[in-house]
Amino acid sequence: MTRIAIVEGDGIGHEVIPVARSALELLHPEYDLFTVDVGYGMWERTGCPCADKEIREMKDADAILFGAITTPPMKDYQSVVLRIRKALDLYANLRPVKDGGFDIMIVRENTEGLYSGIEESSPDRATTLRVVTRTGAERIVRMAIKLARQRRKLLTIGHKANVLKSDVLFRDICIAEAKASGVSYNDKFIDALSLDVLQHPASYDVVVTTNIFGDILSDVASYLVGGLGLVPSANIGERYALFEPVHGSAPDIAGKNLANPIAALRSAGMLLTHVGDAEGEDQIESAIRAVLAQGIKTRDLGGSAGTREFGEAVLRVLEQTARRA
Ligand code: NAD
Ligand code: IPM
Ligand code: MN
Repeated sequence: MTRIAIVEGDGIGHEVIPVARSALELLHPEYDLFTVDVGYGMWERTGCPCADKEIREMKDADAILFGAITTPPMKDYQSVVLRIRKALDLYANLRPVKDGGFDIMIVRENTEGLYSGIEESSPDRATTLRVVTRTGAERIVRMAIKLARQRRKLLTIGHKANVLKSDVLFRDICIAEAKASGVSYNDKFIDALSLDVLQHPASYDVVVTTNIFGDILSDVASYLVGGLGLVPSANIGERYALFEPVHGSAPDIAGKNLANPIAALRSAGMLLTHVGDAEGEDQIESAIRAVLAQGIKTRDLGGSAGTREFGEAVLRVLEQTARRA
């Protein structure tokens, strides 16, 4: 039986994940969905935002649907999201940004780079070590090439090799792998690339880059589709897979029924494809588009529907589709 761990997390995670969960329940009543409690709320209750037990529970699932975590004010702070990505070795963070005229897949390295966790801090100086390894670069570019092969066969490598030795290594490994694979490729400095993605989105297919550049590029590129409320992501490793919106817990709008649940719904869609139901992802996407076409939109898109109302409209369309099938 397909087992899905549901982690709402914090903030708007409590609003958007229930919508996505309902979509999964509607399309797959046979799945076993179970809740895992992680995040700020958990930290307030127990002093620990995510213990080994929760990591084990997530590892027990075929896939994880994840909301977002508010950074807890811990001593010796370690990000919960990063802990989970590392513990499950979710090395590839796939962030699709697409609309009518363009279809970009950002492939973000998810375990090293500036997120190495190798840091030192004193009152007058703090350092963070940016780590690029051959193994890390090879596995992320191979994932990007695999995706490019299934798509339009163009790979863009985003880096800052004009300044950073770590990115000279990253770029050179990416180019060597791309050459050997036969996909078309080019490379660009990440700053210029970020602007060009906004100006000429249709010239991009798969973009591979290091951890923090991919983090920033994906928020920037979300501008092309209407903002953070719309972009989903997949965090993939050899054994585990976690699906989450690109956005965070949005404390500024949390609890107000204002959050756009599309990114969470699309994350559930990517999860379905991962567990073998690509048609389910198409159904969710068609339902989102049908509801938007009716003029039902949340406030970030200029509408007045709440999270729940938008979610209910999507679920109604999904129900009709399910009944017809
Ligand atoms: P954020 O993505 O939470 O919010 C940025 C802006 O986008 C806010 O104005 C917010 O209202 C808006 N926004 C985000 N999602 C939206 C949605 N679905 N609908 C409508 N508007 C939306 O980023 P932030 O404010 O920089 O971070 C808030 C907290 O979330 C921090 O504690 C941060 O560390 C955390 N965070 C967690 C994750 C994660 O768990 N994966 C990701 C990003 C940020
Ligand atoms: C994201 C977030 C995370 C990141 C934070 C919350 C650790 O911004 O998933 O994009 O930087 O990767
Ligand atoms: Mn981010």
